Amino acid sequence: MLGLVLVVLGAAGMAAVWLLGVPAAPSAPSGDFTSLGEQIYFTGADAAGPIPRSGGPGGMMGGRACAGCHGADGRGGSFGMMSNVEVPDIRYSALTSPHAEDDPPMPAWTDADIARAIRDGVEPNGESLDAFMPRWDMTDDDLNAVIAYLKELG
Ligand code: HEC
Repeated sequence: MLGLVLVVLGAAGMAAVWLLGVPAAPSAPSGDFTSLGEQIYFTGADAAGPIPRSGGPGGMMGGRACAGCHGADGRGGSFGMMSNVEVPDIRYSALTSPHAEDDPPMPAWTDADIARAIRDGVEPNGESLDAFMPRWDMTDDDLNAVIAYLKELG
């Protein structure tokens, strides 16, 4: 019996660590968004409602919009238990500059590359993104609006 209690306490402790490691969901700029791209970035929804997605984490991490993982400023970071999830910087300037330090080196992304990553979870080099990044079934208008917002971020 004591063993069971300890196991339960241990699990609760781990859940607490997980929770603490997760950055607080950013508070969206109050009410009205100035653009569709900003709205999608902070809410994951357009005028028609939540944008259909597949993949992504379940549980309490599920249902996050871009800002919930990549941060309100788009710079990403690492979180999760033991900070084991690396979320990349997706500001337009970061994506479109080549990363020679990566192995293999990552070329500069084009808008079409960014669209493919968001929709299909595929990187310019053809590799699949981690399942932690949802695949978003966005219309072209939504996609263009989000890419325009990534430009606003930097
Ligand atoms: C649940 C967390 C989560 C959400 C929500 C999320 N992402 Fe991601 N995203 C990730 C992670 C983690 C990666 C990196 C995956 C990898 O390295 O394999 C990623 C990768 C990306 C990449 C590729 C960048 C690169 O350098 O590899 C783009 C672009 C991107 N996300 C855009 C978006 C956009 C736009 C949204 C909102 C519509 C969004 N993401 C929502 C977690 C998330």
